[in-house]
Amino acid sequence: MTASPILTVRGAVHAYGDRTVLQGVDLTLSPGEIYALLGPNGAGKTTLIKTICGRFRPDGGEVRLNGRDPFRENAARSSLGLAPQEIALYAHLTVAENLETFASLARMPRRAIPAAVQRALELTRTVDRAHVPIRHLSGGYQRRANIAAAIVHEPALLILDEPTVGVDIDAREALDTVIRGLRDIGVAVLLTTHDLDQARALADRVGFLREGRLVLEGEPQALITEAFGARMEVLVELLGEPDAACEAVLLAEGLAKAARRANLWVRLDLDGYASAGRLDKRLRKAGLIPREIRVREPSLHNLFSLVSDRKQAA
Ligand SMILES: Nc1ncnc2c1ncn2[C@@H]1O[C@H](COP(=O)(O)OP(=O)(O)O)[C@@H](O)[C@H]1O
Ligand SMILES: [Mg+2]
Repeated sequence: MTASPILTVRGAVHAYGDRTVLQGVDLTLSPGEIYALLGPNGAGKTTLIKTICGRFRPDGGEVRLNGRDPFRENAARSSLGLAPQEIALYAHLTVAENLETFASLARMPRRAIPAAVQRALELTRTVDRAHVPIRHLSGGYQRRANIAAAIVHEPALLILDEPTVGVDIDAREALDTVIRGLRDIGVAVLLTTHDLDQARALADRVGFLREGRLVLEGEPQALITEAFGARMEVLVELLGEPDAACEAVLLAEGLAKAARRANLWVRLDLDGYASAGRLDKRLRKAGLIPREIRVREPSLHNLFSLVSDRKQAA
């Protein structure tokens, strides 16, 4: 990467009262890059975003947007657009009216506003809903209108806090296309998400934030390969919930319960396909009938579990 970074965060610290929730975060973003910030609830993602937006004076470290301090210099914030987690639009106004309002608030010259609004509508694929009030839009369109409002003043950095909340599966594809389109015209995108599949599909780099520290950062595929090498994920889906005796068998096989679902068990294995075949035989012998056994490449989900479980050692 040769372009100079649009965003530099060095050693950012933030405390709410006596609780320190950012413990020295470093982050750099370049134009045309998508960075996904991952981490459990309460990790400090939104606090980091607020710090980047100049909402607080950092208790330590520094933030630079295009070389300028967003807390001290209002003008530094014009290179930044934020689409917050909660839809921040006027519900009774149409998409176009919202964009006009946001453009005025960003102090765009009046003459430039119509073209800026049209551009934001096109980039977010909301042209066909331009004259519909926000409250009548689907979750997916509201999300994209929220992004349109964040980019109407043509910022170099776009920040999206949990953009998939309230967006159904079908509409996510459209959202991802919009985010990629912005990246392709050189906008740097920083997003937080719970949706690890979205992060995998979109992000050039991901960072895992845990208890206010960035504990892992890099290109998704490189991180996965580094963590798991040639191992494959073996997933066993059972017909029903296993009883205690069956659970003991599964645990003895080195399987762990996948989050949320009692009938889905997982392990990582070298030699994945062959080992899945042997596993199937042994489970059947023990009276456990798998409904399905899948073998696949490890994902950010596996990496996320690894990072979340890891004791705060390093
Ligand atoms: N305004 C606030 N006052 C006090 N504590 C807060 C405030 N906002 C967030 N926190 C706490 O700071 C921690 C990080 O929160 P947040 O940055 O919202 O995390 P995330 O976005 O990763 O879920 C959490 O423990 C949260 O409860
Ligand atoms: Mg948050």
